[in-house]
This record gives sequence, C-alpha cells and structure tokens, in this order.
Amino acid sequence: MKHPEFPLTDDLIYLNHAAVAPWPKRTSDAVIAFAAQNSRFGSHFYLDWLKKETELRRQFQTLLNAASADDIALVKNTSEALSFVASGLPWQAGDNIVSSNQEFPSNRLPWQSLADQGVEFREADLSSTDTPEDALFALVDGQTRLLTISSIQFASGLRMDLPRIGEFCKQRGILFCVDAIQSLGAVQFDVQACRADFVMADGHKWLLGPEGLGVFYSTAEARERLKLTQYGWHMMKDIHNYENVPWEIHPGARRFECGSPNMLGIHALSASLSLLLETGMATVEACVIERNDYLKAAIAAHPQLILLSDRQSPLKSGIVVFKHQRHDSQALYRHLQQNGVVCALRGGGIRFSPHFYNTFTELDQAVEWAAAVR
Ligand SMILES: Cc1ncc(COP(=O)(O)O)c(C=O)c1O
Repeated sequence: MKHPEFPLTDDLIYLNHAAVAPWPKRTSDAVIAFAAQNSRFGSHFYLDWLKKETELRRQFQTLLNAASADDIALVKNTSEALSFVASGLPWQAGDNIVSSNQEFPSNRLPWQSLADQGVEFREADLSSTDTPEDALFALVDGQTRLLTISSIQFASGLRMDLPRIGEFCKQRGILFCVDAIQSLGAVQFDVQACRADFVMADGHKWLLGPEGLGVFYSTAEARERLKLTQYGWHMMKDIHNYENVPWEIHPGARRFECGSPNMLGIHALSASLSLLLETGMATVEACVIERNDYLKAAIAAHPQLILLSDRQSPLKSGIVVFKHQRHDSQALYRHLQQNGVVCALRGGGIRFSPHFYNTFTELDQAVEWAAAVR
C-alpha cells in the first residue's frame, strides 16, 4: 500500500533518493501555505518564520546528535560547506589531506584547489583492502592535517566505519570532515560518536527536502580554526547592529551564514525532517536497509542481472548498483526511465536508491523492468 505522505503518480517507481527525492505531502503543503501567506501578508509574520528557522536547527541537532543547536549552520549545499572548510583552514606547503578515490567531485575539488598552496590531496583506493578504513589510514603521515570522506559513497553505496576513523584521527590530532549527504535521512548519524569536526549534507536527497538548503555542523573548537570566507550582517553576534559600529562574529555556526536565510526552503525542509523524526531514524534506517537487502537478493538471484554492490559488508546503505548480463547500462537506463523507474546511471551500472516508504511490490516490479530490457 502507498504511504500517504508520498502520493506519487501510479506510473512511477521512485528509486532515486540518492539523487533528488520527491517531497512528502506535508512539505508540499508547507510550501503552498508559505506562498499563500506571502502573497496575502508579505513578511508580516516574520517572527513566526524565525521560529521555524530555530525549529529546523533543532531538528538538525537531533538528527546529528549535535551537542548544541549552535553547532548547526544552514548553508546552500554540501559543496559550499566543504569549501568553507577547505578555504578556511590555515594550510602550509607540505601539508596533506587524506581522502578516497570514490569521492563525489564536491569532496574533491575544494581540496585539490589547495595545490597552489603546496597542499597535497591523497586518494586512497578503498577497494584495495578488506576494510576500506585501513586504506585511508595507510596514506596518513606526520604531515596529514585533515581526513575527509563520504560517510556513504555515492556510486558504490560503500558505508564507512566513521567511529573508527574518528578515533584514529583524534589520536593523531587530525581534523575529521564527513560528507554525510548519502547518510543523513537514510541511516542514523551521530556526530559525537564519530568524533567528527565538520559534517555537511544537503536537503534534497534522503532528507526529502528541496534543493538549495543544507546543513553544516562544526564543533566549537573546529570552527574557531576556520578563517571566514564570506561576510554579511547575518553572521554578527548582534544581528541587529545595522549602524557602522564595531561588531563581533557570532560564536556559533551562524557565522557561516552571511545574509538572509532561505525562508522558503526552511519551511519546506523543516516539514520534511518532521516526517523523518516522527517516523524515527531507527525505523527509517531499518526500512532502508531491509529494502536494500531485498533488492540485492532479488538482483543477485536474477539470471539476467549482475549485482555490482557488495553484499558482505556489515555496514549497509540505501544504494544498490547493478548491470545487465547482455545490455549496456546506458540502454538499460533509458529503458527504465521510459518505463517509469526513476533511478540513476552511476558506479558502472544502474543505481537504485529506495527510501523507507517504497513498497516491496515496487522493488519487484523495478527488478522485472530491468531484466526485461530488449
Ligand atoms: C557524496 C556527495 N557529495 C556531494 C554531493 C553534491 O552535493 P551538493 O549539491 O549539496 O553540493 C553529492 C550529490 O550527488 C554527493 O552524492
């Protein structure tokens, strides 16, 4: 039976939450209500909007298990937050950054841009060892200042053991940065358990929100190390200091928000997060992994299909990648799109990324469509 929050059209099977998700009904309602209020009252209810902004920070605090809502900045996207860290740290020639060779460009380009300062970006081959964390550790030396990794790799679905990496980094005084876009909203996340210094994610994937609004978590100590790279009224401690008088930087993560907030996005994303938090992230994660296991088993058992994702790792994600025995993945992708199976071409095959609400019937149908390509 369809989930009441996802009244998607009957001719679609939506398995693309690792790319851009559909909005829950309550999110679409929140956007309509915000638009209606704007057209009738303008910003007359701005104080209520500010309450919604505070609520969203608290929702992120809960989702991340952050010590304080002050550790949460609302940013444009993951790439912006990664750039804040890369451009903000005081680098010296000879420093290096350790990462992997599976990163999305957003977790590669900001670090590679430091090459002109003599900073080296080292990419571990995560498939070179049984435990991918060890491939990262092997590249660390006395000049390593930061380790940056996607909590779940976008193309393979490989999920990293974050507490283990965090512990390793803490023992060596290395900063730990996590691109959590493929985790937040799909699986449980705990910034304190993984001892992360910086964590970032966007709202439009597993968090079921709109594009253009993401989260940037930093600890109080870590953010003090960042030189600010954007300036504006909203980052001041006294946000209403409009006159030309001395000002102080906001002590919290709001220092990374230079100007007016994305209020429309805030109303939408807060509604989306309310669904995830009401459902409970333990339940969401269990459902995501159950669907992932189910899909992997169905694909592995199908004579026409080849499962590319790993089935052995105890750490599971929402991403399944596979290909066809005989047809190339481009043709398979076109066939799936034409038949209403919304998915992506990634990782050398087709990526399915079902969320907690997808039905098992949909999963069966999607596998049948994939096998039926001509
Ligand atoms: C792992 C990962 N990081 C970053 C991004 C891009 O994020 P944003 O558009 O929020 O900068 C993506 C998008 O697919 C991704 O999969």
